[in-house]
Amino acid sequence: MIIDGLNTASIAQAADLIAAGGLVGLPTETVYGLAADAANEAAVAKIFTAKGRPSEHPLIVHVADAASVSRFASEIPEFAQKMMDAFWPGPLTLILPRHPEIAAAAAGGQTSVGLRCPSHPVALALLQACAARGIHGLAAPSANLFGRVSPTTAAHVQGEFGDELLILNGGACSVGIESTIVDCSRGVPVLLRPGVLTAAQIEFACRQNLTSNSLSKEELLRHQIRRLEADSALLEAAPREILPEAPRASGMLESHYAPKAKLRLMDAKALQTALDILGTDAKHIAVYSRQQMQSASTNILLRRMPEDDTLAAQQLFATLRELDQPDIKLIWVETPPEDAVWDGVRDRVTRAAA
Ligand code: TXA
Ligand code: MG
Repeated sequence: MIIDGLNTASIAQAADLIAAGGLVGLPTETVYGLAADAANEAAVAKIFTAKGRPSEHPLIVHVADAASVSRFASEIPEFAQKMMDAFWPGPLTLILPRHPEIAAAAAGGQTSVGLRCPSHPVALALLQACAARGIHGLAAPSANLFGRVSPTTAAHVQGEFGDELLILNGGACSVGIESTIVDCSRGVPVLLRPGVLTAAQIEFACRQNLTSNSLSKEELLRHQIRRLEADSALLEAAPREILPEAPRASGMLESHYAPKAKLRLMDAKALQTALDILGTDAKHIAVYSRQQMQSASTNILLRRMPEDDTLAAQQLFATLRELDQPDIKLIWVETPPEDAVWDGVRDRVTRAAA
């Protein structure tokens, strides 16, 4: 059932449901989430079941403010604090070392926890109402079945999970792709998932270089060993076990954010050539391109991707859902530009094509 998220009675209803161990469809500025009390193991298990998501894949825990982070994180490096100061509330998730006894199920058993304070007024209202009920974190992955396109409207969420689920309507998401994820648990900030915040913006805010996740495991290990040496010298103690297994991020699986139709990436020229070769026979194909394409066939669905990166991100998932019609077998997408501001959109369409 979709209810108006801007209404105080709706927020109270949703917070009561969360407190009772239920699930709520929640708008955030990035995408809609499927939320439950992060400290309630049975409620968190319902999220994994509903999504069909393997239970070792960690969920993001949403908090009402930066002050709540210390309830979940055992350590907040200075660079992480600077990122929170600069971008929260907003589309940034930080992976931090976790208090061992807190939110283990939500964290998929990892020794770290992903934390984010969203800026959407409905999300903040629900987080505050939950905090008033003693619940200080909402575990919420994107509200879509595992591996599929993330939802950016309440109707998308209803389409995924049916009318049983209580969904707070907060309108269409303004950002449109998931938060940028930075791992702050390894001594240096590591970019795990690009989003609308660019690496340069993050580096400027935390005054440190952002390591990309493509950095080799050996290099990371070297960073960690250096940190271990510094720590043990400082503590005059034997080296501790501080080399946790590199966290798994489900967003890194080969195929993700995928429509049912096969998605292919091509540059504008290849795309136009392919349409020309097919000519009037072309069918079952949707085209999502920045440049205007021509097709001699009337059976081709042509959509333009906005010139502007922010708008393109905002519309990406809704457009992929719209193009993913039963008679469409292929979605041809023009490869987004190489510029850093397109990193988030390029990442999502690349994974959708995998
Ligand atoms: O914008 C967003 O981040 C949305 C909204 C609802 O907040 N949420 C979202 O959640 O995208 P989800 O579950 O679809 O993606 C969360 C990503 C996954 O790739 C997960 O593996 C990673 O965050 N993640 C969460 N906790 C982690 C941890 N402790 N270590 C490594 N990766 C983690
Ligand atoms: Mg997701």
